[in-house]
Amino acid sequence: MKKAHLLWTLLAVCLFVPNLLWAKNYVISTAKTSLVLRTEPGKRVDFVYYGSRIDRVNDIYATKSAVNWNAYPVFGTNCRAEHALAVTHANGDLSLELETVKVESYKDEKDGGNVTEFQLRDKVFPFYVKLFYKTYEDSDVIKTWTEYSHKEKSDVVLRKFASAYIPMLANDYWLSYLAGQQNSESDLYEEPINRGRKMLGDHDGTRNAFKTHASFMVSQGRPQENSGNVFGGTLAWSGNYDISFVRDYSHGRLEITAGMNPEMSHYYLKPNEVFTTPEFIFTYSTEGKSGVSRQFHRWARNHQIIDGTKTRDILLNSWEGVRFNVNQAGMDKMIRGISELGGELFVMDDGWFGDKYPRNDGTSSLGDWVLCREKLPNGIDALINSCEERGIKFGIWIEPEMVNSKSELYEKHPDWVVRQPDREPTPGRGGSQLLLDMCNPKVQDFVFKVVDDLLQKHPRIHYIKWDANFSANNVGSYYLPKDRQSHFYIEYHRSLQKVLERIRAKYPKVIIQLCASGGGRLNYGLLPYFHENWTSDNTDALQRLQIQWSVSMFYPSNVIAAHVSRSPSKGANNPSSLKFRFDVAMTGRLGLELRPETFSESEKLFAKRAIETYKGIRDIIQLGDIYRILSPFDKENLYSTQLFATPKKDRAVFFAFCPYYRRNQPAPALKMAGLDPNRNYRIRELNPLDPQKPASINGKVVSGRFLMEQGIVLRWEKGDRQSAVLELTAE
Ligand code: GLA
Repeated sequence: MKKAHLLWTLLAVCLFVPNLLWAKNYVISTAKTSLVLRTEPGKRVDFVYYGSRIDRVNDIYATKSAVNWNAYPVFGTNCRAEHALAVTHANGDLSLELETVKVESYKDEKDGGNVTEFQLRDKVFPFYVKLFYKTYEDSDVIKTWTEYSHKEKSDVVLRKFASAYIPMLANDYWLSYLAGQQNSESDLYEEPINRGRKMLGDHDGTRNAFKTHASFMVSQGRPQENSGNVFGGTLAWSGNYDISFVRDYSHGRLEITAGMNPEMSHYYLKPNEVFTTPEFIFTYSTEGKSGVSRQFHRWARNHQIIDGTKTRDILLNSWEGVRFNVNQAGMDKMIRGISELGGELFVMDDGWFGDKYPRNDGTSSLGDWVLCREKLPNGIDALINSCEERGIKFGIWIEPEMVNSKSELYEKHPDWVVRQPDREPTPGRGGSQLLLDMCNPKVQDFVFKVVDDLLQKHPRIHYIKWDANFSANNVGSYYLPKDRQSHFYIEYHRSLQKVLERIRAKYPKVIIQLCASGGGRLNYGLLPYFHENWTSDNTDALQRLQIQWSVSMFYPSNVIAAHVSRSPSKGANNPSSLKFRFDVAMTGRLGLELRPETFSESEKLFAKRAIETYKGIRDIIQLGDIYRILSPFDKENLYSTQLFATPKKDRAVFFAFCPYYRRNQPAPALKMAGLDPNRNYRIRELNPLDPQKPASINGKVVSGRFLMEQGIVLRWEKGDRQSAVLELTAE
């Protein structure tokens, strides 16, 4: 008996041990992080670890840091658990159970990324899934996405189709995310992730960055800017999305699932058709939230944003100055104004178009992209000439995905509109704005032609502001078959991307700004086609301080359009000095949104100097590393500070804002971050109110270590909304 027992044990060990040995850890590392997945043929893929870089897998097991959980859970064989994918097979069965067939690693020659591809199949049905993880050697960022296909007898319905699933071991997790609406975009919320389910998501249909952004950070412990372990994620998809955070009841594990929003979007996948999910991009830093931001910024500039490593021009946009009252004299004044101040570009916003129906307000003309001769009798080329004579470039506003029911386009093509055939559509802005059905290839051609015609007729147009001011409010497509209407939300954005691809193939150099009623579309899914984003229609400097701060968590400054507008700004009663407004706008891509001819002589002088100053530091701000220090969202801070530094740390710019002055409060020492502790920096005050009387620190040399450990005390006058900007140059 004993012998037989021993034999059985030996046999079991022989069968089991090789399995253990064959199971392979796939270590996907960047300079500072590692992702470890484990699988073997015939088994599921396990998520083992994601965090600081490891050089020995043993470190994970020895410290009990292995998550050892399904890397891509599917519905069917553990129905209680979170799932990233759920389908209805051709025969009506709802279940999936994936096993690994093969793992491949290769370089993507197009962008230099290193890809690890897990090829899986269902154990029963001919349904196939590929999981992709791509890293870039120059940044600590990983992209992941999935692909599905099948060879079943008829369509398989995709019911949930997440790009990514990230499990984490139990911990004290805090979520940081951005939420808001038009004019109050990107409010920062930070909260512990408790048991239960928390969702970030959107179903606007066209603009997905109002309600919440598809970007977030998860910190271990209370979030800090410059310390602590932080995970950051962002979904590169401009359509409806769904990101969930679930604390598992039995183990306290955190499960993050991110992908397109499947609500009202079940997708009929044909045999052999390949469905690719959007990319989910993630990173990890041990240097706090600012560390995550710097990694996202570096990756985005190098790989995701068109011309990401270039600085942007200083511009004047006509919108807040004249709104719809565009006319020759007004445009000429603005062109003269911005060129005299040293700006580089003038953008004519809404109000320039419409022949049968001139665009005088939001009620008409979208779709009729021809010049309104009544308003601009000399034509667009005359405006371009006038710009060029003054040494600046010309840009123009369009909203090509939209139509007003009062327009020639709508009269010709009422069926191009997103609506249900048996109901009157509920319109948007002006009581008549409707969305064009991008799923329809004729509409795609039309939208392409709007841009193509403009640029063919006026090849010297340097810049386009591409707006989108309505949601998909009346979902229904004349183009999509009746039994495929649920494809609308996905097809709309795939089609938009197709059109943008065509535009970029023909016009790679034209600068295009992404705008959607302000910052409604800010998303990495669109930034491969756009140079920058209109951060918000709210240009009140005080509120912009917060909006720009939170947007900088995910996006670099060359994408954050920040304009100086009049004081007090429309919709907010926070009068502030021109200096404060300039200083806030200078943390992003500086621009103006007012009529320079209304400036006093001293304001003109100040603005001119500030623009000149910005030119000297814009590479640091737009292309450098950000260190956010004191948050404008933190009610306990009297001050808000941030610093931008070159990667070499030889030059830096420090911004200090005093949003609300408190009487008799001693000014605290403001500490810096991101400097080289072993170098000395010469300090110069930028944008002083009176250049003859700069701050006392002006011209002094102080060590980086001292500035970071002890900080500086600045002198503040009585009054709200003050600021100081210091340039630091290593000696
Ligand atoms: C939107 C944009 C504004 C401006 C107007 C023009 O609201 O966000 O910046 O372009 O449209 O109608």
